Amino acid sequence: MGEKLLVKNIGLLQTPVGSECHCGAQQGENQKLKNAAVLCEDGKITAVTADGALPAGSEGAAVYDAGGRLVTPGLVDAHTHLVFGGWRQGEIPLKLRGATYLDILRAGGGILDTVRHTRAASEDELFEKSRAFLDEMLTLGVTTCEIKSGYGLDLETELKQLRVIRRLNDEHPVDIAATYLGAHAIPDEYKGRADEYVDFVCQTVIPRVAEEKLASFCDVFCEDSVFDVAQSRRVLEAGKKHGLRPKIHADEIEEIGGAGLSGEVGAVSAEHLIATGERGMEAMRRGGVIACLLPQTSFYLGKTFAPARRMIELGIPVALASDFNPGSCPSFNLQLSINLGLLRYQMLPEEILTAVTVNAACACGRGNLCGTLEAGKQADLVVWDAPDWEMVCYRFGSNQTKAVVKNGRVTER
Ligand code: NIG
Ligand code: FE
Repeated sequence: MGEKLLVKNIGLLQTPVGSECHCGAQQGENQKLKNAAVLCEDGKITAVTADGALPAGSEGAAVYDAGGRLVTPGLVDAHTHLVFGGWRQGEIPLKLRGATYLDILRAGGGILDTVRHTRAASEDELFEKSRAFLDEMLTLGVTTCEIKSGYGLDLETELKQLRVIRRLNDEHPVDIAATYLGAHAIPDEYKGRADEYVDFVCQTVIPRVAEEKLASFCDVFCEDSVFDVAQSRRVLEAGKKHGLRPKIHADEIEEIGGAGLSGEVGAVSAEHLIATGERGMEAMRRGGVIACLLPQTSFYLGKTFAPARRMIELGIPVALASDFNPGSCPSFNLQLSINLGLLRYQMLPEEILTAVTVNAACACGRGNLCGTLEAGKQADLVVWDAPDWEMVCYRFGSNQTKAVVKNGRVTER
């Protein structure tokens, strides 16, 4: 007989429903069950019950008593750059003297500094460092995440990063969606030759990444003085030709047309969108693109916040993620994105829950596997040390989980 777990005495079970991303009014629809229980078998949810009823077949299951607390689906962090060498606290004095994120990058620092450290690190070093991040993210409630490459830029290091991501997925309980982000910056060896670097990405690296099945998605940093719209389009089209689904870092700092491009190429998601205007949003709506918003990056870079309310009003599905990376967001605490979603995007608590569960799962191509608490989905649950989801959105700065269940296994804090 397989492994069975009964999570019982759930005061409130709150979850979106379904496997598709939710937009407009639907973004704010959550199912709320009182006095609920969830039965998990072999890592999957087999039954959810309410009003004190216990699922048939619970006999013989290990029991976790939630003590009347709130339970939600495991959180999904749909945008991270979690595998990297070094850190960048050395940028602090430059920032205090007024240098912007792009000033530092143009001067050969920023992402390029992390590239130097990532090239120098061994695969094992990168693996151990990243594994420790994932351990902590799991205790913070994250049961699935996306990880991008993009700190190698040369063939060898990009493949090294992607292999680390594959190994993390194989060995760590957190499930990982891998994204190839070779077009993250123009490496020193291609300085002043951005188009040639794009050729290299399209002709040499993408085919190899696809052949080795190292990524499901292809992303590009479409930004002023990084990759323009034409170059970004080339990268995403080349990825598509090799079966990599497009994602795009769009309008993080300047609005140069990335959101519009996301609609044209049929991107799964456009990410950041701090500077996106009406035209970009209209293209996203038409193209069915998920807006993956990263409020901790706005906070850390001292920028404005993406127009989340307008996006919901227009019917664009919104996901919230961390953007964990050593430059623009040195935090992997997705609970802080939840707090900022409330405070700075003015999203409703129910909309936020959808944004960090099913919509984020769809942005990772996994809406059918996780993101809601329903029979047939992975048994990924968070037991919160809170009576309701409003409390999780409202308190900030400390880890509010009580226990995290990943594939039917409990990690108690
Ligand atoms: O999403 N903008 C591009 N990529 C990251 C930052 C990466 C870095 O600074 O190391 C971002 O903000
Ligand atoms: Fe990013």
